[in-house]
Amino acid sequence: MRLLAFAASMRKESLNHKLVALACEIARREGADVDLARFSEFAMPVYDGDVDRASGLPAGALELKRRVEAAHAILLAAPEYNYSIAGPLKNALDWVSRARPMPWRGRSVYLLAASPSPMGGVRGLWQTRIPLEGCGALVFPDMFALAHASEAFDADGRLRDPALAARLDREIAAFVRLAEAVAPFCCTGAATRETKARQEQIVPALEEESEVQPPSR
Ligand SMILES: Cc1cc2nc3c(=O)[nH]c(=O)nc-3n(C[C@H](O)[C@H](O)[C@H](O)COP(=O)(O)O)c2cc1C
Repeated sequence: MRLLAFAASMRKESLNHKLVALACEIARREGADVDLARFSEFAMPVYDGDVDRASGLPAGALELKRRVEAAHAILLAAPEYNYSIAGPLKNALDWVSRARPMPWRGRSVYLLAASPSPMGGVRGLWQTRIPLEGCGALVFPDMFALAHASEAFDADGRLRDPALAARLDREIAAFVRLAEAVAPFCCTGAATRETKARQEQIVPALEEESEVQPPSR
């Protein structure tokens, strides 16, 4: 079970990166092989349809596409900007959505957010689900939004609140189990001999969502 994990923040001291790093530890303990990336590895210009048409995806978007495709599931910590999805993440999703086959299709995604605010960024997570689901991702129903995140970590980067730490443990363990269970049916490249026929029935239906945004080329 291969997981890609990243926080959609360029900040070196990103609270979202701290949170996703904790989630990675849990996922590794649950047996997942985790690729923890920095969003700066996926730096890319603002989407431009002319550039897309002339030269396709820029290097940062190609790298994100490659890393998504190499994974069965994704842990994504998404900062909330102005009550919604952060622009840099939406831009990255838009670029990667121009690739075919749709890289996100059939991949399980777990969403987290960390914010100094009392809401923890949960409003942004609801907005983040929409483009991901539009791209055919299987977004886990529950999400983890860490409120007052500037004070939530101890010096070792652990959550100070044991109840929250236990909830994160439970959620990530459940996500890893579910992602592992669905990957052979939904995730291209993960089919087994037993699940291939089922995958051929399921994947075209997931693809229908991505027909809403056909590439212009
Ligand atoms: C442009 C901008 C808008 C923001 N809007 C919100 C917001 O609506 N809700 C919220 O909880 N935090 C908001 N914040 C605060 C971020 O949650 C905070 O900066 C957080 O630390 C960003 O994540 P990071 O630490 O991973 O970079 C905003 C920050 C910026 C830069």
